Amino acid sequence: MIKEVVLATGNKGKVKEFSKLLEGVFGKVISLSDLDSPPEVIEDGPTFRDNALKKAREIAEYSKKLTLADDSGLEVDGLDGRPGIYSARYSGEGATNKTNIVKLLAELGDNPNRKARFVCVLALVDPNGEELVVEGFCEGVILNESRGEGGFGYDPIFYLPDRRKTMAEVEPELKNTISHRANALKKLKTELERK
Ligand code: IMP
Repeated sequence: MIKEVVLATGNKGKVKEFSKLLEGVFGKVISLSDLDSPPEVIEDGPTFRDNALKKAREIAEYSKKLTLADDSGLEVDGLDGRPGIYSARYSGEGATNKTNIVKLLAELGDNPNRKARFVCVLALVDPNGEELVVEGFCEGVILNESRGEGGFGYDPIFYLPDRRKTMAEVEPELKNTISHRANALKKLKTELERK
């Protein structure tokens, strides 16, 4: 088992979710809040991959420890892949989950091409320079209006045809097994076990 890993996020929810899913892979999961004034990494890359790698590289260099970073978002086919890397700040300054959903539904209008996917890219970077990048996806369809109270972000408008529910209507335990993050972590586990 690899001894410890730094998670390049200060988001408590993500730390909890990742820690659970990484049980048995790393002995100890440390988060940014356990580091003494870590640098703020600006996510200005053109792709999820660039942003995840940038975060992992900068924090690995600073902490001198193996570091795992993620970048994720929603790609909608009828919007040529938008909001993509801009998912968190889609509706501009002071964006909230609600304002982002309103903007996305307005842009999509009655476009019949409502296929979409959540994407998660994970980058694992060793301070000695070794790097591993994996991607996870979760496919769905954008509804015309929000449904459900669970989850966060775009979950209320992201419909899972197999489950006949939105991501905000499924149990969190189920989301944690089918989400883009879960799928990326499964790939990471497989890659690490292969080493
Ligand atoms: P980040 O990976 O924290 O930068 O996530 C970027 C944005 O993508 C979030 O602010 C959400 O808008 C969206 N997003 C990422 N993962 C999810 C998810 O599981 N459900 C809904 N929205 C998500």
